Amino acid sequence: MYGSLHEFVEKLDAAGELKRIRTAVDPVLEITTIADQEMKAPSGGQALLFENCRGAKFPLLINAYGSHRRIALALGVPDVATIAKELHGILTAKPPASFKEALALLGTAMDLRHTKPSTGKVCAATEELPGLSALPIQQCWPKDAGRFLTLPMVITRDPDTGARNVGMYRMQVIDERTTFLHWQLHKTGARHWRRYCELQKRMPVTVALGGDPVLAFCATAPLPDGIDEFMLAGYLRKKSVELAKCQTNDLEVPANSDFVLEGYVDPQEPLAMEGPFGDHTGYYTLPEPYPKFHIERITARCDAIYPSTIVGIPPMEDFYIGSASVQIFLPVFKMTFPEIVDIALPAEGVFHNLVVVSIRKQFPYHAMKVMHGLWGMGQMMFTKMIVVVDEDVNVHDTREVLFRLCANIDPQRDLIFSKGPADVLDHATPVVGFGSKLGIDATHKLSGEANCRTWPPLIQMDATGAKAAG
Ligand SMILES: Cc1cc2nc3c(=O)[nH]c(=O)nc-3n(C[C@H](O)[C@H](O)[C@H](O)COP(=O)(O)O)c2cc1C
Repeated sequence: MYGSLHEFVEKLDAAGELKRIRTAVDPVLEITTIADQEMKAPSGGQALLFENCRGAKFPLLINAYGSHRRIALALGVPDVATIAKELHGILTAKPPASFKEALALLGTAMDLRHTKPSTGKVCAATEELPGLSALPIQQCWPKDAGRFLTLPMVITRDPDTGARNVGMYRMQVIDERTTFLHWQLHKTGARHWRRYCELQKRMPVTVALGGDPVLAFCATAPLPDGIDEFMLAGYLRKKSVELAKCQTNDLEVPANSDFVLEGYVDPQEPLAMEGPFGDHTGYYTLPEPYPKFHIERITARCDAIYPSTIVGIPPMEDFYIGSASVQIFLPVFKMTFPEIVDIALPAEGVFHNLVVVSIRKQFPYHAMKVMHGLWGMGQMMFTKMIVVVDEDVNVHDTREVLFRLCANIDPQRDLIFSKGPADVLDHATPVVGFGSKLGIDATHKLSGEANCRTWPPLIQMDATGAKAAG
């Protein structure tokens, strides 16, 4: 548990994972130039703390999640696999058969207690700021429409059920106290907003920045609509997230936030054009209409650090965030698809363009069942291409995947096309948010599958040969 972003920075420093930059650097383009190089360094380089940001009084932290090690440090585990293993244990828990098992189950139940956030704390961000220019908000790329907050936790409530949502949606700065909110069509924040529009009610919105790094990670997690991201944070931390009441609306924020922006969206106000923005697709997303966020109060804690990231041509910091999410939620996928062995979202596929999944194939056309199932699961619906391989393939080794893909497919027999909702950032779809999908069955073929000859064995050395070689 980190009490602030400052504490996490100290942890990164002690672990040799932080570079401090003391010379004055401009948040307009200069930070991107330095951070982009760092993110492209082997294994994600180091986190960068810009201590002297031109025009702003707060330091800026970037690339703090940008390696498998730093994500593990942010989540407070030796390895993200630890979390996946524990979650698997909970999801597959059977009644205890021994005293030892009963104790283990009790421990699990104790951990789950922490999912409920605790309320009534005082927020550490108390210093009122006049406007957004106090923050070192980056203009990331030359053709960006302006400065963008890139790691915000946007907190809203469903006006019907009161369920909280925390989503990471970028915010383009319009003026000192106004930004856009880029919640895309299919995201929960956008659904809340559409409902406020139907009800013709002003929508309270609060944005938290910083605090315990587990929080921003959870804001990116693809949780189902209705599940509070702060519950996931409490589960991961084994300690309830402590919340404080906002001053100008009825929402709550993590008490250890570094910055808090309280405000509202007015459903009567017309949308305006947000963007362009150099996006994680590696291309600029072109302007699209989004609502404006009116900020009524901006506060900072005394040791506040402004968290930021950049997206662009992969690999970038967000690859590690996405990979950790996939790893943590793999046991959940396996509940629905026990045949799934592993899933990888290669960096080049920027999340939604390419998913590689290995399966324990049991019957003819099994791969097709898995493709259709994945396209129907939450944010997996955005996946443009799914490649299914056999269980013995390491999906994280792109060379191995390519070898099986090339060797095992007959294009006409093994490719299927489908259609469905697409990532709104995908510039290649014919219309925004809808496109075609490709499924490739690169598994070995069984006798019940049409147009197949006898399938040959894969070349592998046997025990005799291996022994002879010593
Ligand atoms: C660095 C980063 C920036 C993101 N920016 C946006 C964004 O601007 N708009 C958006 O809809 N999703 C964005 N996402 C993805 C969402 O955070 C993600 O889909 C999340 O699960 C949405 O939460 P929700 O299901 O509660 O809406 C971003 C993710 C990351 C890691």
